[in-house]
Amino acid sequence: MPQANSDSRKILITSALPYANGPIHLGHLVEYIQTDIWSRFQKMRGHECHYVCADDAHGTPIMLRAQAEGITPETLIARVSEEHQKDFAGFNIGFDHYHSTHSEENKALSAQIYNRLKAAGHITRKTISQYYDPEKEMFLPDRFVIGTCPKCKAEDQYGDNCEACGATYSPTELINPKSAVSGATPVEKDSDHLFFELSQFEDMLKEWTHQGHLQPQITNKLNEWFEAGLRGWDISRDAPYFGFEIPGETNKYFYVWLDAPVGYMASFQALCEKKNLSFDEFWAKDSITELYHFIGKDIINFHALFWPAMLSGADYRTPDAIFAHGFLTVDGKKMSKSRGTFIMAKSYLTHLNPEYLRYYFATKLNSGIDDLDLNLEDFVQRVNSDLVGKVINIASRCAGFVVKKFDGKLADSWSDKAQALYSEVVTEADNIASLYEKREFGHAMRDIMALADKANEYIDETAPWVLAKAEGKEAELHESVSMGINLFRVLISLLSPVLPTTSEKALSFLQLDAYRWDDIQTPLMGHTIAKFKPLMTRVEMEAVEKMVESSKADAKSAMPSTPDGKKGDKKSTTKSKASNVSTELEPIADEISFEDFAKIDFRIAKIVKAEAVPEANKLLKLTLDIGEHEKQVFAGIKSAYQPDELEGKLTVMVANLAPRKMRFGLSEGMVLAAGPGGEDLFLLNPDDGAKPGMRVK
Ligand code: MSP
Ligand code: ZN
Repeated sequence: MPQANSDSRKILITSALPYANGPIHLGHLVEYIQTDIWSRFQKMRGHECHYVCADDAHGTPIMLRAQAEGITPETLIARVSEEHQKDFAGFNIGFDHYHSTHSEENKALSAQIYNRLKAAGHITRKTISQYYDPEKEMFLPDRFVIGTCPKCKAEDQYGDNCEACGATYSPTELINPKSAVSGATPVEKDSDHLFFELSQFEDMLKEWTHQGHLQPQITNKLNEWFEAGLRGWDISRDAPYFGFEIPGETNKYFYVWLDAPVGYMASFQALCEKKNLSFDEFWAKDSITELYHFIGKDIINFHALFWPAMLSGADYRTPDAIFAHGFLTVDGKKMSKSRGTFIMAKSYLTHLNPEYLRYYFATKLNSGIDDLDLNLEDFVQRVNSDLVGKVINIASRCAGFVVKKFDGKLADSWSDKAQALYSEVVTEADNIASLYEKREFGHAMRDIMALADKANEYIDETAPWVLAKAEGKEAELHESVSMGINLFRVLISLLSPVLPTTSEKALSFLQLDAYRWDDIQTPLMGHTIAKFKPLMTRVEMEAVEKMVESSKADAKSAMPSTPDGKKGDKKSTTKSKASNVSTELEPIADEISFEDFAKIDFRIAKIVKAEAVPEANKLLKLTLDIGEHEKQVFAGIKSAYQPDELEGKLTVMVANLAPRKMRFGLSEGMVLAAGPGGEDLFLLNPDDGAKPGMRVK
């Protein structure tokens, strides 16, 4: 790998392409902020660096999400792309181009790569048997089949693995499988699939994964794959599917992960159009430019096995490195909607300055793949003490004297002692550059703060506020505050990849046009600065608390009311179905007026008949006696009661709810039951003295 500080390099870097079916959250931002810092650093070093990304717009979840919203997938991905780009701009992620995998460039490149792989004999065809939803008329991806774990019998598990016991299995092993799309019982059906024969790349991959392109932990992980033996990768999906049709096939589409990484090339190709760059210079087999992919550790196989094999099989260059990072936790736990720690980029931006998070993530990031924690109290404390208390403070301590006493002009020259201090600090800048280069951002931030401490000590020792009052100390005062401003300028330059907005504001204070790494070597002598304006305010814990509260509220209003399916915080669209069984407390809903409340007619109802609804996992069909007449209600309480246990029991029902037509029949009200859900839902017993039809007060 070329060395930092060598002659100008040509670098192309990417971040993983976010799925176009959901908003950007703080977990995603770990990656985009990490990549952006590295990209800005390379640019500041004077290298030619291009940072591209795109929305990952294909696949079943996106198709179903569009259907659920009653819009076309194209409309959905256009809207989400706009939202994503707005969020990224809010965090100052400086993409040189942001594209979509649903683009002409990507269609052509994906087809070309596939055709080359096919021509070289790397594509095979096999018949596979898979679950099919007979109602929805589509094959079901593993995570769209839900049922009881064959091992521990936990209910409501996905078709690929059990969250309760960790077992992995195929969807056909689930007990009582149901389609997460329609609730129907899936049937097994055969179909031809196309496979990319990874085993033909075994030698190439064994070599490539041991040549320093990967972090050591990842190379180790991949060795397990080689030991297990490389198998064909299923790259086709049958219609209906939102994606690109496979050339030469009917009703077959590229699996989303085939064209997703090609999206890196497609985005760069669009950038080439915009900036008149050479695509081949960066992608041809003999390219001498550098290519790096930043990704999360969940998508390593796609980038460190399939992708290099695809590229090499299609006669393109392979990446110089894959830089994987860990996952974000908040206050030591997985992000959670009900705790309000599943924080969307947008809600963060409503309450807090993006530079705080950029800095905080920088202090936590390194070249490894361990998870990183956003501790909200530590966040407030770190930002206030480091950025506001140490760095910005240097400028505000010195600027007033320079402006008032010296007309804004810094000293023309300084003592040997001052020069020695400046040289010492500047030497550190080289170390900091190599830390940035190695993605050891946390270490770099600590070293920068040590320099800030040194600068503050210098100011404390020289005490400009004392010199300003003493007679005949002008030269000393001038040296002291000029040094202060120079040290501030070094620090804010070193931090500029992390703090683009704050450092930009500091440019006008310092009267400079840009930050270039090499400029740090030369102190500002006889240079005039402008009046100091506050560059950053302190973070208030209250703002953080408000953000958490509003995230709780957002999560609640986003919960759909589908009765069956899995609970939130998950990866695919099956996750968008909230369960009525929640183990965590949900926030209280928006308040209603007394008039609203008074409209509800609660009645005691006797359950005269209860029957299972075969098509629906959780529903029971209840026939209720409310005195003068009977009503039919579908209630999601199957998890707690067998139908025959219910007959004769009393419940409270909302008797005047407008009837609702459901897939299984008319539902004429709502029954109330108390409890946390699952098996613990409580109804009234007949001997409690209530009579059917009684009004509940
Ligand atoms: N669409 C795929 C990537 C295709 S790349 C050719 C994808 N999208 S994603 O939206 O789920 O994730 C985008 C990136 O964000 C991934 O690198 C993923 O690892 C990262 N992160 C998503 N959630 C994250 C955290 N909670 N923490 C850190 N990174 C996370 O995967
Ligand atoms: Zn299990």
